[in-house]
Amino acid sequence: MRVTERFPRYLWPISAHLRGGRLHLGELDLAVWAAGCGTPVYLYDAATCDEAIAAYRYGLRAWPGPSLLAYAAKAWLNLPAAQLMSRRRVGLDVVSQGELAIALAAGYDPALLHVHGNNKPPALLDEAAAAGVGSIVVDNLHDLELLEPLAAARATPLSLWLRLNPDLLAPTHHYRQTGHHGAKFGLTWDEAHAAADSIRKRGGMVLTGLHTHIGSQIFELEPLLAAADRLVALAASLREAGYGEIACLCPGGGLGQPYHPEEGRFNLAEAVQRIAGHCARTWSQYNFGSYPTLVLEPGRSLVARAGIALYTVGAVRRLADGGRIIAVDGSMADNPRPALYQARYTASLPAAPLAPPTGPARIVGPLCESGDVLIEHVLLPEVHPGDILAIPVSGAYHLSMASNYNATLLPPVYWREAGKTICLQRRQTPADLLLRDLPLPS
Ligand code: LLP
Repeated sequence: MRVTERFPRYLWPISAHLRGGRLHLGELDLAVWAAGCGTPVYLYDAATCDEAIAAYRYGLRAWPGPSLLAYAAKAWLNLPAAQLMSRRRVGLDVVSQGELAIALAAGYDPALLHVHGNNKPPALLDEAAAAGVGSIVVDNLHDLELLEPLAAARATPLSLWLRLNPDLLAPTHHYRQTGHHGAKFGLTWDEAHAAADSIRKRGGMVLTGLHTHIGSQIFELEPLLAAADRLVALAASLREAGYGEIACLCPGGGLGQPYHPEEGRFNLAEAVQRIAGHCARTWSQYNFGSYPTLVLEPGRSLVARAGIALYTVGAVRRLADGGRIIAVDGSMADNPRPALYQARYTASLPAAPLAPPTGPARIVGPLCESGDVLIEHVLLPEVHPGDILAIPVSGAYHLSMASNYNATLLPPVYWREAGKTICLQRRQTPADLLLRDLPLPS
């Protein structure tokens, strides 16, 4: 096994490197740091997030008009994370009252927010309209019924986008496909026309954008390009039907992020450039007056690689076939992705990342079910109780999907930027778990 296989650099944050045979993030010796602050713990590298943001902004230059990079908050959100994105002038896609409240508490410019959801609660629409969000994305005709009274009560019209279901199957796990016939998301072509008509008739609302999103963790660009083509064709057909030209065109997010050495590399800037360039060519074929703002809304590809999850090894069970079951103090409570999508990860011992493997291991957590597996198969050297184990590509859809199953306490989250490590979220305490609970009357 070569060094690059034992330490596939492209899966780790860009500030990660080996020094003296130990894994570091910048100056930080990860094994020493994690042992000092306690595990499980999540650590994010700012430089990796910033490089991903830069890759998007570079790729978006292939679009001749204005562009906006928006972050899909569902990938990872808390108050400081929203502040970090807001300071970088990244827009934000929010889908719930919780995400909206966090964004507003972080001081996000409401004009940079857009609101998604296939069943938006009226209270979310109320709060979004009151906050003055940039746009609300109409996912179905019911949304318009809910929006009508809000629109009527306003001095300025509500800016609405339509989400098109382009009837395309994304090449990804079926739980992550969102743009096919029968999916719960988006308007069919005819419904989009009906929605545009309804927006014009109702008044108090204005159609400003078109959106589509076919799924997540996509490495093949063709289906994404085909969805963008349908979106542009819809813009042309709405213009022809007299609904005017749109100001925003959003072909969604969904670009893939390798998690495992067998998934190979993926060049983000090139992929974004291809999408933006393709949109520009398609747009130019229709003789529109000008280019709208091209909005991309990635989640995973902005934050996944930036995050490392660090755990402490506990019980090590040796199996008759030579395999090992290595139990750590993290679990499906902080990372439910293996259980939900059979997601594959790799792991390393940051105190000895290049030590030759002695055999396969399964990494499990302490929760009371056999689905509590973090890695089904990984080659590792000798591992002992007390060792720190690091799992890369842990920055997206772990903490945002984490649970308190078995009353597990959620881990703290740290951020490393410009040589400093700051805590973004402290570890949950048992008192936090009891906060909402009301004792029975005696
Ligand atoms: N826009 C919309 C409307 C979305 O629904 C999503 C993700 C995104 C953008 C961002 O997609 P991304 O760039 O992150 O692929 N929990 C799953 C992923 C679910 C994605 C949900 N929607 C996982 O851990 O694989």
